[in-house]
Amino acid sequence: MKTAKKALWIGLAMAAGGAALLSLGVVADGDDHRWRGWGQRTDFASVTDQTYLTECGGCHMAYQPGMLPAASWGRIMENLQDHFGDNAELDEPVRRHIQGLLERNAADRVSSGRSPKVMRSLSGQAPLRFTETRYFRRKHHEIPTRIVMQNPQVGSFANCDACHAGANKGNYDEHQVRIPGAGYWDD
Ligand code: HEC
Ligand code: HEC
Repeated sequence: MKTAKKALWIGLAMAAGGAALLSLGVVADGDDHRWRGWGQRTDFASVTDQTYLTECGGCHMAYQPGMLPAASWGRIMENLQDHFGDNAELDEPVRRHIQGLLERNAADRVSSGRSPKVMRSLSGQAPLRFTETRYFRRKHHEIPTRIVMQNPQVGSFANCDACHAGANKGNYDEHQVRIPGAGYWDD
């Protein structure tokens, strides 16, 4: 085989290999949320339920159910008219649908990602906020409140997606955190 032709064949083979790897990545990411690789990983299993994403993702990101136990979701969903100072009331069928989804995928019902660790940190409590769990505090206590509360681009620890670019996919890798106005976190 002439050298030029050989180079062409090697090039084609590499392109095909690359395409195969790419499609593998896409398929694996779509079908299996526990799959890890190429910067994809899941700390809290994400849900794709459109009703949930629409109704609970309008004022803040749609939190992954695995952040809190079923008892917490029950408390939240049974008191939506007084929701952290807002009225987040829903029609009863929609409310029941969402409550069921949250409870079935709650931290005490799934064994994937960080949910078991969150459960261990709760010692039986059912808080209304993930940001008030011991687990959350342990992971964020080094961050000065000044660059959160007084930062208009963040405003609150509840705005996970302000700092964690992968938050909506349930990815909270500490190596991919970027605090707006403060840059990449490096400790
Ligand atoms: C009308 C706006 C609004 C809607 C709709 C809404 N929320 Fe909220 N939610 C809030 C506000 C405001 C807070 C407090 C945010 C903060 O402290 O920065 C909050 C906080 C939360 C928290 C606590 C976050 C933390 O860990 O600190 C959870 C959990 C939560 N909401 C769940 C839900 C669920 C589930 C739904 C859908 C049924 C929902 N929210 C719909 C306004 C809303
Ligand atoms: C102000 C920016 C900011 C906000 C808002 C924020 N985080 Fe973080 N988070 C960080 C930083 C920085 C770290 C890494 C801390 C360290 O390494 O000391 C981190 C770490 C974590 C970790 C541990 C990651 C690891 O690899 O060990 C988890 C899980 C996490 N955050 C989840 C959340 C969730 C869920 C929310 C919203 C309820 C949230 N974070 C809100 C900045 C933020």
